[in-house]
Parts: sequence; C-alpha cells; structure tokens
Amino acid sequence: KPQLLIDTDPGVDDALAILMAHAHADVLGLSVAAGNVGLAHTVRNARTLVDLTGASTPVFAGCPTPLVRLPEEDAAFVHGRDGLGDVGFPEPQAPVAGEHAALALLRLTRERPGELTVVALAPLTNLALALRLDPTLPQRVKRLVVMGGAVTGHGNTGRVPAEFNVGFDPEAAHIVFDGFPDFDLVDWELTLRHSFDEAEFDRWLAVGDRRAAFFGRVFQVARETNRQRGRRGIIAADALAMAVAIDPSVILRSERRHVGVELDGRLTRGATVVDWGNRLKLPARANVVLELDQPRFEAMVRKALGAQ
Ligand code: BDR
Ligand code: CA
Repeated sequence: KPQLLIDTDPGVDDALAILMAHAHADVLGLSVAAGNVGLAHTVRNARTLVDLTGASTPVFAGCPTPLVRLPEEDAAFVHGRDGLGDVGFPEPQAPVAGEHAALALLRLTRERPGELTVVALAPLTNLALALRLDPTLPQRVKRLVVMGGAVTGHGNTGRVPAEFNVGFDPEAAHIVFDGFPDFDLVDWELTLRHSFDEAEFDRWLAVGDRRAAFFGRVFQVARETNRQRGRRGIIAADALAMAVAIDPSVILRSERRHVGVELDGRLTRGATVVDWGNRLKLPARANVVLELDQPRFEAMVRKALGAQ
C-alpha cells in the first residue's frame, strides 16, 4: 500500500480524494492549506473527513495566506461558503495536531525517508514553505503528485489562463516546480477530459455506504454551480490526482516537460507555461499527465464510496 501525505484545502473534490486515499492507501497525515475557503474552514473540514473515515489521521494546520500576495478570489461558489457544501455538520471530534503543516511535512519525511508520496491538492503554500526551510526535502520524498495548472491555458479562475491552486499562490507553485526534480502534474484540462457521467455517478451515490451519503450531501452546491455553467459530467480534479498517487500505472500517457509559472502578467499571473518544444532547454521536471485509465479511475472512486 502506498503511504500518503496529503496537502489539502477541503473542498468537495478534496473530500472525495481523501476518501479514496483512506480506502486504498495508508494516510500519514492531512496538512491543510487555505484555498477553496479560509483556513479555519479547511481545517475543520479535514477533521470532519477524518471522523467520517473512522481513522485517526492527524490533521496539521498550515498557512492562512499565500506566500506573497493576498488572494483575489476563493472558490466558495463551487464548494460552498464553508467549503463542504454548507451542510452544517456538527463540530468534528478529530483533533488538530499542534504542529505546523510545513514542519509536519519535514518531520514525517525524515521519519520515513524515501517512503512517502506527497499529494498536493491545494495551493502549494505549505509545501513551498517546507522546501524553503529545508531544500533537501525532495531527496526524502518517494513521489510528489500535484493537482495544479492548466497546461493549454484553459484555466478556471478570473485570470483566464490560471488554474485555481496555482493562481491562488503562484510564488509557492514556482518554488515547488523549481525545487522538486521530479513530480507528476495533474492539470485542470486533464480533469475536464476525465469527468464522470452524471447519471452513473448518481447510481454510485445511491448504492454506496455512508461515505456516498456524505458525499451526496456536500456535493449539491458544486453540482448546481456546474449546471449553471453549462458543464456536463462530474468534475473532480483532486480525485484524479489521488488516483495517480495511489497507483501510477493508471497513467496511460504523459510527457516530461519544463513547466514555469507566470508571476507577473497583466492577464496571466498564475498561468502555467509548458515548454512543449523544449526551446528553453531547462530541466523537464514535470511529468505532465495527458491521459488516464478512466475505468480504473472510476473503480477507485466507487470503492471509496462503498459502491462497488
Ligand atoms: C483545484 O482547485 C480547487 O477548487 C479544487 O479543490 C482543486 O484542487 C482545481 O482547480
Ligand atoms: Ca483542492
């Protein structure tokens, strides 16, 4: 079983990814970032998810803001004002560990050098901070999988070509993309190509266990937003990155490329720039995932919902 450390900003698709992780892997911790909504909500949501899984996964609170500039937007219109569909869950039981997320990332990788897969499902603030504190971090990480970027410029933020996680904290993404010699990049456009059929997804929710019932509730706001935007199918970006983290053999096609992050730009701050033609002759650190095994991805999600 892979050993995972999940950096996350739950977040409805984060929630699905966290359920997948607990169904298919050993989860050593949830390090929590601000992003979809503010840190107080994302930390509470992470604890709610730990309660749901029945595990004792530690939750580490991380940075409340991006490294440099305050964010221009959040994603409450997709995830709900509280980040989990405004269902109104009771106060969770799972505690918050008294260690900063960035320090927990460093400690856990020191305790298990070469064993942990880090799955980054949020703005990369915590990971960038950890990397600045200890640049040898990548040497101790088995794999890094990042959900972030929009490799052909069809982003999902107010700055058109920027994807949310990278656009929220571009400096952090730059630090991570520059500092890790090797990582898998699951971008927003891959997500659009690997949605679930809505009727099929509803069948999983209907036949699944309490995890499916939970997801059905938190998912309503996101579903309505998608409908209003005329999107068909269920899009779950973080679930896709989690599938790659759990089992890299779900990747059917990928290309190793240099990926830079635009840190300035009037219209493009936060955009990911992929050097498809290797014209810059810079290190190609990102394994840009271009196609996944959809049936296997769906099987992983079904198991996480108890809907096999
Ligand atoms: C990413 O941004 C967030 O809204 C999602 O949770 C996902 O991590 C998609 O752009
Ligand atoms: Ca996320």
